Amino acid sequence: MQEYKEFAKYYDRFYQKKDYQKEVLFLTHFLTPKSHILDVGCGTGVHASLLEKEDFKIDGADLNQEMLDIAKTRMTGELFLQNVLDLDIPKKYDAIISMFAVMNHLSNLEELKQALIKMKEHIKDDGWIMIDLHNPQASGEKTDIFDNIKRKMLWEYDTEKQIETSHILFTINNTTYHDKHIFRIFAIDEVKEAAKSVGLEVLAVYENYDYNKQGVKTSKNLQFFMRKI
Ligand SMILES: C[S@@+](CC[C@H](N)C(=O)[O-])C[C@H]1O[C@@H](n2cnc3c(N)ncnc32)[C@H](O)[C@@H]1O
Repeated sequence: MQEYKEFAKYYDRFYQKKDYQKEVLFLTHFLTPKSHILDVGCGTGVHASLLEKEDFKIDGADLNQEMLDIAKTRMTGELFLQNVLDLDIPKKYDAIISMFAVMNHLSNLEELKQALIKMKEHIKDDGWIMIDLHNPQASGEKTDIFDNIKRKMLWEYDTEKQIETSHILFTINNTTYHDKHIFRIFAIDEVKEAAKSVGLEVLAVYENYDYNKQGVKTSKNLQFFMRKI
């Protein structure tokens, strides 16, 4: 079982209720017209395609070819099969975004720092980085039906280790697939410290893609806006 392999084909269906439009609207508060953006962990390219419609130029990078294959069908920017930890693109961007828990896939603070270093290398001097992090408060489970697909999700949060393990089991035509994700959950102060240690400053932390809402310990998701010091 590998992450985002069979899952990629069903990803858009599973997240059809996610309010991508709201997230893009939030991002546009920070973008200047014609900004050139890199979406790290672009997945199936939904944010990128919506930003292209708003006349921004956007490239994507992702670790999984299966996700990029879908992104290619809906966006025109360049796509790079790359791990953020080794990001190496011969361009500098006005902004880098990383939406929906991409950085939580990293194992520890050292990896977060390395990812921030790599992203910092790819922004212009006045560019900025926005990372969107998952911030669970409890364990749980739920089952949903999407047309002919049954999806069961189970997640367990170890508050001490700051690790959330989630299982996504989806059954199609009597075959069950299993996608397992291990997320390192980063506290607000950890992210601020990690950023500072690599020459970035967190200028603001938001919650739920709301420009008027400051992120706090109990927010379900957090958006960190950072610039070079
Ligand atoms: C939850 S999905 C989010 C996709 C997209 N950003 C969205 O909002 O729909 C996480 C994505 O991060 C990618 N990813 C995970 N670890 C990565 C890494 N180290 N470098 C680049 N991409 C990564 C996965 O392949 C997957 O496409």
